[in-house]
Amino acid sequence: MMTIATNSTVPRTEVAARESAGNAIATPMKKVVVLGATSGIALAVERQLAHRGCELLLVARSPQRLAELQADLLIRGAKSVLTYAADLAAIQHHAGILDFARRTLADFDTVLLAYGSMHDQTDCELSVDALLEELHVNFVSATAILTLFGAELERRRSGCLAVITSIAGDRGRRANYVYGSAKGGLSLFVQGLRSRLHPVGVSVITIKPGPVQTPMTDHLANSERFAEPEQVARDIVRALERRAPDVLYTPKVWRYVMAAVRHIPEGIFKRLSF
Ligand SMILES: NC(=O)c1ccc[n+]([C@@H]2O[C@H](COP(=O)([O-])OP(=O)(O)OC[C@H]3O[C@@H](n4cnc5c(N)ncnc54)[C@H](OP(=O)(O)O)[C@@H]3O)[C@@H](O)[C@H]2O)c1
Repeated sequence: MMTIATNSTVPRTEVAARESAGNAIATPMKKVVVLGATSGIALAVERQLAHRGCELLLVARSPQRLAELQADLLIRGAKSVLTYAADLAAIQHHAGILDFARRTLADFDTVLLAYGSMHDQTDCELSVDALLEELHVNFVSATAILTLFGAELERRRSGCLAVITSIAGDRGRRANYVYGSAKGGLSLFVQGLRSRLHPVGVSVITIKPGPVQTPMTDHLANSERFAEPEQVARDIVRALERRAPDVLYTPKVWRYVMAAVRHIPEGIFKRLSF
């Protein structure tokens, strides 16, 4: 299902004025495709993009939630909001998503991949089906759709691909190594894609959030202490505007924490229960 809605209350001149007045750096980011648009983190990013008058194409599973989101983002200032309902784990639908993006938001300049799942680690240890589903959603399907959108931007020799992976991918931990290995594999894939697309002027950003308060984590202990999605979204939007850094840790403290974690010798690390 696809729908298009526009916001005639935000004229082009105002958007241009926001950009020229806006914080020193003129943004190349005007037309953004979000894959996994109903995620808690994506939602916070989309609200900030709407406030900047961006044109958005939202892809997610639930037509009803997409319709609600479309209405909300238009009220918040998005210039237009297109929606496309699809299960992103169904790789056979990916070509249709790219085709829709080409036809309806032809010169999109930014793609944010935000969807993912975090199944219970123990379930993935006990069930190969659960394990494979976790790897499929977070790694296989993500690399498949990035391959399509990456080739499109490569052909145009411009644009930005931003991919939410996780700090969980920096080291295989006892408590969540299945999710972590999918995200770690995705981070490596994105790193290689960045090297491939750099010579043709396409930016590829790896986004590694620490724990964030979203539906994915609200069942976890101490989740009220996790970062707020709005804070993480501010970092992401700044990176999308600047098309840098190559690897964004958000909140920033996780860059230093994970540098330390990566350096713990394996002989000690395997004894840690976290
Ligand atoms: N929250 C954290 O602490 C944290 C930390 C590091 C990285 N991340 C990553 O950040 C990204 C966003 O997660 P979040 O925290 O915002 O959690 P979230 O609100 O639970 O979002 C996950 C999103 O992925 C979507 N999704 C899952 N499988 C899908 C499929 N097959 N097709 C289409 N959409 C699918 C879900 O769609 P439905 O709405 O239809 O279920 C949901 O909108 C994920 O990649 C996650 O791994 C999160």
